Amino acid sequence: MERLLPDKDTTVAMQRATQARGHTSLHCEPKDVFVHEGEVCAKVRPVAVDANQSNWFTYGSPADVRLSELAAVFIRKDPPFDAAYLYLTHLLELARGKTLFVNDPAGLRNANEKLYTLHFAQFMPKTLVTADTARIHEFVKEVGDDAVIKPLDGAGGSGVMRLRTSDDNRRSIVDTLTHEGRILAMVQQYVPAVRKGDKRILLLDGKVLGAINRVPRSDDLRSNIHAGGSVEAVEVTESEHAMVATMAPRLRKDGLFFVGLDVIGDRLTEVNVTSPTGIQELSRHKNREVAQDVIAWAEERTSVPDPQ
Ligand SMILES: Nc1ncnc2c1ncn2[C@@H]1O[C@H](COP(=O)(O)OP(=O)(O)O)[C@@H](O)[C@H]1O
Ligand SMILES: [Mg+2]
Repeated sequence: MERLLPDKDTTVAMQRATQARGHTSLHCEPKDVFVHEGEVCAKVRPVAVDANQSNWFTYGSPADVRLSELAAVFIRKDPPFDAAYLYLTHLLELARGKTLFVNDPAGLRNANEKLYTLHFAQFMPKTLVTADTARIHEFVKEVGDDAVIKPLDGAGGSGVMRLRTSDDNRRSIVDTLTHEGRILAMVQQYVPAVRKGDKRILLLDGKVLGAINRVPRSDDLRSNIHAGGSVEAVEVTESEHAMVATMAPRLRKDGLFFVGLDVIGDRLTEVNVTSPTGIQELSRHKNREVAQDVIAWAEERTSVPDPQ
């Protein structure tokens, strides 16, 4: 909670919407989850949020709860997906079918944000995943001497770099990202439309919630808000709706309900599932709290009567 920004983070919008709809929002960290005699539990604290206060959140008294007693569990741990995250998904999975997970722990474990996108390769720019440095240099030539290389475990633009044949840092960049040819990296054709922005389309249960556009700084490739990208309002096109409809059955099957797609030009570059962001910016453009749609949907899924 201490590291969240009340006017930026999607998690806070979810908490605000939960509270606005009359529910109790409980908070815990990965280290607070435990399994006792096969029952997955967590040490939680009720949390109340109020953006207008300088002390914008307050905790109630801690208590141990069984996850199976809760209406819904929102997993919003930021990457990296490390061993602690892996074990957490195994623990949480024990409560599968007993509560609503957003997103499903097994789905989170299976869906590396960069690699999962390959299930929808028909919508992606030309993409290569390899540790083989010679193959990478070959690919860069093949796609017009201009590409982007990304680490598979990055987020927020971290480690994403441009690869141009003319750049004499190119070989060094490839060696660095592949750890001298030992670690897989993703290499993608450079999509020039990135100068106009990287669209974040937020999905709920395979349907479009809305989208924002993130425009990179003039001196950066990366559009991520975290990397200084600026946000503007944007519409979702017909062809993007059609793409989402194609993706929806797979996302539902994997329990990936709250998802953020990254689209550059008309190409899909990433499927964000661990802690997708953007709902506060979207809410400002739409002039309403879009996170309420997420909580209303969860109420329906869990048949929790709306207390209002
Ligand atoms: N194929 C591409 N062409 C042009 N720019 C890209 C491409 N892929 C990524 N980028 C730029 O890099 C940023 C981060 O890439 P992304 O794949 O979304 O990884 P991350 O998980 O770090 O957000 C994007 O917002 C975009 O500005
Ligand atoms: Mg991204």
